[in-house]
Amino acid sequence: MAIETRETFAALALRGKLSYSEAKFRGVVQDLFPPSHILLPQINQIYELDLAYGEYRHLSDDELIRRGAYFKSVNETLTHHFRICTNTPDQVNASARQDRKNFFAANVFAVGYATHGLFPYRGKFHPQMIKAVMNVMGLKPGDTVLDPMAGCGTTSIEASIMGINSIAYELSPFASLMTRAKVGVLNIDCGNFPALLKYADDIYRRFVPHEKQIAVQPSLFQSGEATDSLPDLTLAFPKLSEPMRELLLLCYLDAVGYASRRQGKTPHDLFPDLLSRYLAAIRAFNETREELGLTLGQAQVITGDARRLEIPDESVDGVLFSPPYSFAIDYVENDRPQLQFLGADVQALKQSMVGLAGSGKTKQQLIESRVSRYFQDMETIMRHCQRVLRPGRYCVIVIGSNTNQTGGVSLEEGLVEIGSQIGMPLEFQIMRQIEGIRNTMRDEFLLFFRKPEGRDTSNNKGT
Ligand SMILES: C[S@@+](CC[C@H](N)C(=O)[O-])C[C@H]1O[C@@H](n2cnc3c(N)ncnc32)[C@H](O)[C@@H]1O
Repeated sequence: MAIETRETFAALALRGKLSYSEAKFRGVVQDLFPPSHILLPQINQIYELDLAYGEYRHLSDDELIRRGAYFKSVNETLTHHFRICTNTPDQVNASARQDRKNFFAANVFAVGYATHGLFPYRGKFHPQMIKAVMNVMGLKPGDTVLDPMAGCGTTSIEASIMGINSIAYELSPFASLMTRAKVGVLNIDCGNFPALLKYADDIYRRFVPHEKQIAVQPSLFQSGEATDSLPDLTLAFPKLSEPMRELLLLCYLDAVGYASRRQGKTPHDLFPDLLSRYLAAIRAFNETREELGLTLGQAQVITGDARRLEIPDESVDGVLFSPPYSFAIDYVENDRPQLQFLGADVQALKQSMVGLAGSGKTKQQLIESRVSRYFQDMETIMRHCQRVLRPGRYCVIVIGSNTNQTGGVSLEEGLVEIGSQIGMPLEFQIMRQIEGIRNTMRDEFLLFFRKPEGRDTSNNKGT
């Protein structure tokens, strides 16, 4: 019997097509960029190439050198981003887990540079990506960007480095503290760092008996204020600046949190090492800032509710934020010890936290109520964003795709729908795959909404 031979689907699909070996191979990077523009190493996802291409299209060569996120050099001049990142000291403790060490080693240009690595806040932005997004949004030095849910201040840090002014709104007083400290020390005199390290133990002890006092007495460590238990520090450093004082508090809170995750270690054991890593990172950035002659953008940090944004109409040149992944991360529980230390009303905070509010007798009812509250809150916030944006400018929302915890509802699709209803339609989107085995999210969407040029014809009442 004759055996019928059929061409496979793959063979049919490939018939007549040249393989790479038959054609002269040319990589996509060579097609996108001229030889004068060298990409950074460690670019390995398509969204990064998309953003690099966006930067290349939007910025002049000089702007790419000063503000580009994905280039190593342009016309043989090293970019500022490359120089900032390569001058950043190792951010990982020698005794840290190997997967943490591997992560930082594989992401030298992406995450731990400047002051981004100072506190491990969950769900924070990818800083390199945020820099590129601001470039694609057309933001320039002197412009103002708003992050209404600022977390630990990634947008403000990047904006400052790029000479862009920023407004960071954030509900959690602990996250606001992080933002103020991490942005504040971008421009600081590091002359007293050796002495601070020498007195690390005294600094630590100073926090312990004064837990309540620290929250209400912002002038601690300033001239003449600190008294009994820290005479040496007061004598040696009579005028620690406000950002430095908050940085020390952040470092102390970091040590407390870190000790709760490490067996057999007390905050006291961990504080000196953390402080020395904090100061090394700050010093390195400040040295590079001086070498590059950077003029930093101004950052305003407001502890407040994004649903009641008190910012004038049409006063910002861009909005960039990521709403909480509260379905996956309970920020209030996560930061409970630090929030309590700062005297925050944890219960009240939970009620106002987007994504956490809602109730129901069954799990299903709880999810439905949370999702519905989430969209109500996000609509209110997006209306504010539309209101405060100047015409023609972008509002970019970065959101993780997470249908597991929302009963199958796609959050990104809901936001796109809201955007079209309030007169701020989606112009385009970029998708990013989230790596890492411990992440509950698979993809992240960068949604570029744009407020139309000219008169506002939307039904936005600006609640
Ligand atoms: C995904 S995180 C933002 C992380 C930030 N992009 C970063 O890089 O650190 C979302 C933030 O929204 C804040 N948030 C939640 N509800 C809020 C509200 N009603 N107003 C302002 N901020 C809120 C949370 O405290 C959390 O810090």
